[in-house]
Amino acid sequence: MNLNLAVFGSGNGSNCKAIVKAVDEKKLAAEVRLVISDQENAGILTFARERGIPSRWISREQYQTKDLFYSELTALLRYHQVGFIVLAGYLRKIGKPLIDMYPDKIINIHPALLPAFGGKGMYGIRVHQAVIDAGVKVTGITVHLVDEHYDHGPIVLQRAINVDEQDTPETLAEKVLKLEHSYYPEAIRYFAENRCAVLNRKVCIKHSQKN
Ligand code: GRF
Repeated sequence: MNLNLAVFGSGNGSNCKAIVKAVDEKKLAAEVRLVISDQENAGILTFARERGIPSRWISREQYQTKDLFYSELTALLRYHQVGFIVLAGYLRKIGKPLIDMYPDKIINIHPALLPAFGGKGMYGIRVHQAVIDAGVKVTGITVHLVDEHYDHGPIVLQRAINVDEQDTPETLAEKVLKLEHSYYPEAIRYFAENRCAVLNRKVCIKHSQKN
């Protein structure tokens, strides 16, 4: 049975596109049932509309209370029978009501090797600038389960690339984003194939029978 996904994003949605492409190419047994954005004009919403994927601009500010916001959001997720949430460039913190509703079923991708270069305010080009400033020799991507803290949950997948002497934050951003597009669908596949177990904050991945 396909994994029913909701993809949450605040920006361009290039990871969402990569996920939909993997689904189209039958590399991922999943279906993107819903796209959510807190930004009215986000590229991710335009992409969803073009592809005919149900989408919704919804943000905390539109509601008088947090409870009202979460009751609307969780109703939407239920209505679209979402079983798993993928954060792809979503800049808001995920609150307890969602974490409780989707235990170990929300993942995020971060454009560096956590636990370094993460946390509140560490997103976009700032991450790559910090990597360059620190003079580290490798950077990469981290896919992790989401808990109530920024960039903090158990790690599902990491891939590394070298930081070259001539790299700038912009060149790193480009290289890292390409890596995200290749590996985010793969990380989702672990869940679609029910191959993940979480024990003591560690994620174990069973080998695929297909590989
Ligand atoms: C990615 O770099 C991701 O790591 C970060 O936000 C960016 C999203 O890009 N969380 P896009 O919206 O998927 O193009």
